[in-house]
Order: sequence, then structure tokens, then C-alpha cells
Amino acid sequence: MQTYLVVGGAGYIGSHMVKALLGRGHEVITLDDLSKGHREAIVGGDVIEGDLGDRELLGSLFSSRRVDCVMHFAAFSLVGESVEQPLAYYLNNTGKTASLLLAMKEHGVGRFIFSSTAAVYGEPESVPIMEGAATEPTNPYGRSKLTVEKALADCETAHGLRYATLRYFNAAGADPSGAIGEDHSPETHLIPIVLQAASGKRESIAIFGDDWDTPDGTCVRDYVHVNDLVDAHILAAEHLLSGGESLTCNLGCENCYSVREIIDISREVTGREIKAVVTPRRPGDPARLVASSEKIRNQLGWRPSFDDPRAIIETAWKWHSEHPEGYSS
Ligand code: UFG
Repeated sequence: MQTYLVVGGAGYIGSHMVKALLGRGHEVITLDDLSKGHREAIVGGDVIEGDLGDRELLGSLFSSRRVDCVMHFAAFSLVGESVEQPLAYYLNNTGKTASLLLAMKEHGVGRFIFSSTAAVYGEPESVPIMEGAATEPTNPYGRSKLTVEKALADCETAHGLRYATLRYFNAAGADPSGAIGEDHSPETHLIPIVLQAASGKRESIAIFGDDWDTPDGTCVRDYVHVNDLVDAHILAAEHLLSGGESLTCNLGCENCYSVREIIDISREVTGREIKAVVTPRRPGDPARLVASSEKIRNQLGWRPSFDDPRAIIETAWKWHSEHPEGYSS
């Protein structure tokens, strides 16, 4: 049994992580400022309400508790917002992560799992994207994450930190129990918005452009179930805790589904009408984002259990239909 600090454990992916770690018998401490996350999403373990940039708080936490590994999910993640408010992104995603890493270094905590993003690649030259592809983010969100990736390599050289950087593609779905799920405000992600249109919470879904260079003209993405994503974190942590080397891996399923296909599958899963309206493209969207998942499969033995979007959407629909208003807090 290990002790994990889950930073951002009240958020969408963090809350699934906390549940999975507890389910495997680990001790979990969640640190979250609850600015975006939900208290009810944390199903157990210890909870500290606070800021990851608060060095005093982190110092007293690391002095009083032995932490084997830190998993860091707390970040701002809206591409459009990052263009309008770049400094908020550099401060929160980059600066505060540096502060967390400094507190870890000062207290000898040497294992770190970092939530990075496909946005570090920018507009890919080809798909599926390999980890060695050029990293040229097209927005401050991607740059705020890429800067941390570089800082991690520097911390390894200087202080011996061992880290795993996981570049998420499109996280989706919910825990099959229906107890926890995705609840962002505002919601910007495709699948929850489609399901809100299915449940009548929205009148329609806007398809952001149908003139892309893709088979049906709508953007293609690589959807990965949130529980497969958290499984990859557990494998990465076990790898580091058993003396493995630092690594950077894509976290996608290598599947390709278009916006129209997701809407069609959602119609079948929900049995509801879902009105779709084509609107202009959303600035900053690449036409295709599909991961090569070869590295994580080979190096960590990761095998996603939900490799088709129907099963992913079924779990998301269970959450949405049982919690039409999301969490109460
Ligand atoms: N989309 C719509 N209508 C909507 C919402 C989304 O057509 O109402 C489309 C988008 O244009 C995109 C696809 O659905 O083609 C998926 O969009 P999401 O907003 O769900 O997710 P993104 O692909 O934009 O986000 C992912 C990752 C981010 C990363 C980003 C980089 O989740 O972390 O790719 O482009 F920053």
C-alpha cells in the first residue's frame, strides 16, 4: 500500500483517480481548492482544501505525512480562455506546478505523475501522433503544459526527480457505477454537450464546421475512457515506484471518431433525438488528433478496456441521466 497525494482530486479525472486508488487499497490525500471541482466527487480518503501554490501548506503536509507519489491533475484547460487570459494559465498551470515541485524537492518526495495534453503537439503533421513528433503548441494552454514538461526533465537532471508525463487525448465517459462523472461549468466538451442535447437541457448541439479535411468533414478525435486513463496512471506510478525510468507517453486509444459519428452513436445509445446544427469552425481546433498508443502499451502494458465510443458514451449517459443537474455543489 502506498500513499498518494492527488492534486485536483475533486475534478473530473482526479475524482476517478481517487476512487481507483482507494479501490486498490492505497491511502489517498486529495488537495483541491474547489474552484472548479466538487467536494461530493471525492469518494473517500483525506481531503485538504487549499491551493497547490501554497508552499507553507504543502510543507506542513509533506512534513506530517509520508507521500510516495504525487499525481497532479489541477489545471485550467480551456484553449479559448487561455488565449484571452494567458497569464492565468502560466500562473496556475506552470508557476504553481513549479511551486509544488519545489515543496516536493524540499521534503524528499521524488515521484510525480503529470497530466499533460495532446495540445502540446499543436497542429500535427501526421496522425497517429508519436511522442517524438514536434511539440509546437498553438495556444497558451498547450505552452503552459509543455513548459512544465521541460521543467520536469530539468528537475530530473538537477534533483533526481522521477516523473511520468501523460499526454491526454480526449478524456470521456464516467465511472460505470454512475456515482461520479463529468461536470464542468461552463461545459465545452463534445460528449457532455451532446448528452445535454439528448436530455433536453440544451436545444441542440453545434457542430463546429463540416468542411474539414476528414472523411465526413467534421473533426476527428481519439476518445479515451476516464477509467482507462486512470489505470494508465496507476501503471505509471507502479513503474516509477519500482525504480523505473521517467517517461513521457501519449494517452489515447488510437481510435478515430468524427463529431458526426459521436452524435450518431449518442442517438443510438440514448434513443433520443439530438438536434445538430452546423456552425463555423471553432478557432484553434486541429482537424484530427489521434494518438499513437504504442509506447504506453509497450512500456507500461496499458490495455484500455473501453476501446469503442459506444461503451464510453453509455457510461457518460448513465451519469448524465442520473444527475441531470450534475453535482449539487
Ligand atoms: N465540438 C463541437 N461542438 C461542441 C463542442 C465540441 O463540434 O459543442 C467539436 C470540437 O470542434 C472538436 C471535438 O468536438 O472537434 C472535440 O472537442 P472537445 O472540446 O470535446 O475536445 P478538444 O478536442 O477540443 O480537446 C482536446 C483535449 C484538450 C486539448 C485539445 C487540443 O481535451 O486537452 O484537444 O486541441 F487541449
